Amino acid sequence: MEKAWQECINPDCKKSVGLTEALHRCPSCGELLDVRYAWDRLEVPGEMKFFEKRWGARRNPLDFSGVWRFRELMPYALPDKLVTMGEGQTLLRQAPNVADYANHAPGKLYLQYEGLNPTGSFKDNGMAGAFTHARIVGAKVVACASAGNTSASMAAFAAAMGGIKPVVFVGSGKIALGKLSQALDYGALTLEIEGDFDDAMARVQEVSISEGIYLMNSLNPFRLEGQKAIMYRVLEGLGWEPPDWVIVPGGNLGNSSAFGKAFIELGELGLVKKIPRLAVINASGANTLSNIYNKLAVRWNGGRYDKGKINGYYGKLTDGNVRAHTIASAIEINRPVNLSKCLRALEFMKGVVRDVPDEAILDAKAVIARSGIGCEPASAASVAGLKLLREEGVIGRDESVSAVLTGHHLKAPEATIAYHSMQGKELERAVGVKRAAYANKPVRVKNDVNDILMVLSC
Ligand code: F0G
Repeated sequence: MEKAWQECINPDCKKSVGLTEALHRCPSCGELLDVRYAWDRLEVPGEMKFFEKRWGARRNPLDFSGVWRFRELMPYALPDKLVTMGEGQTLLRQAPNVADYANHAPGKLYLQYEGLNPTGSFKDNGMAGAFTHARIVGAKVVACASAGNTSASMAAFAAAMGGIKPVVFVGSGKIALGKLSQALDYGALTLEIEGDFDDAMARVQEVSISEGIYLMNSLNPFRLEGQKAIMYRVLEGLGWEPPDWVIVPGGNLGNSSAFGKAFIELGELGLVKKIPRLAVINASGANTLSNIYNKLAVRWNGGRYDKGKINGYYGKLTDGNVRAHTIASAIEINRPVNLSKCLRALEFMKGVVRDVPDEAILDAKAVIARSGIGCEPASAASVAGLKLLREEGVIGRDESVSAVLTGHHLKAPEATIAYHSMQGKELERAVGVKRAAYANKPVRVKNDVNDILMVLSC
């Protein structure tokens, strides 16, 4: 029996596939695949504290990596195959002003700031995992559809690794400038598809299947293995004491799925005493999960979830030509590829789903920045979601919350500048919101000391 393999998540299929296969879906039934482990045949530490000693050995790049220093919890590759770019040196930080904004107890809100990754988003965690697998299977060309961060991360890993060609599919005009500039600079072949993220996602799957190109989107189960490490670092930051809640923005639903798997496994291994609850936050203009979970009440149901309802929902999107639309372009997704795994995570972590309007997202982003941490719009959905869940009383004021900030401030400066400097119709045209409650407008002054002093004295 193998120590690790891939397995279909459909309980009526459970097809097992070897680690050297690069597939996006189960070859028998088309469901998503998981990476599975025979834990009893592997050496797993008896307590999470074990991982602390890795920090003292950080001259070793694998111990420095915020992903691979937890390698016993994602043991699908031998150490000499692991790919790292120094990912995961991230921060878990309290932000009392943000807690105050959400009417939450100061000291009970922690922001997990993934913007500190080498390419400025959480994706680097997943790419460490997927590039390791790409190396195992000997991939020569890698591809992804992207709203920007996946492409930046994939292109950077390909450049760092060498000998591998990155191809990026983006919806034309649908990618924030900071992210596009990264993909171009790291040297990716960048295809601007006439369409949106959902179109790019559909095309990249077709092309990668027909051309045997290695797919780097979060359909790839090895991506999600790397993203489990975000939760390990949250636990590390809290002295291995799980929070009451984890809040994460929901787009393609890779993170939420990975977090669920992380806690399912930590539970199985007896490495945590408590499982946090999960809140996944959509943007209101891209709220497929929220509609499917809250309005259509679809549940994981042991893996036998109601596919008819989901297909009916997608059919209506197609018939009405309904497109996702939000200023949080990283989560502007109407057909999340990891929906089924996210339903599993929501069941295991007793999850809730909400959607928040763009105004709430941009206001939350401005408030977060006043704590000294800058994030991109999609990331701020987690704090906007906390505010909403506090208003509803779903999250208690004194419950401990870790909100994940998925990407860096400088990814999407155009939205930030518009928010702070525009008003009225101009603001609405630029970012689609009517007001900017936390705007910090730049002040124009003459090139004259007296004029400057006048402004300073106001
Ligand atoms: N936050 C940021 C900053 C992202 O870039 C993404 C996804 C998400 C949240 C959503 O995460 O898919 O795990 O639910 N960005 C993808 C991209 C779509 O192409 O960069 P998810």
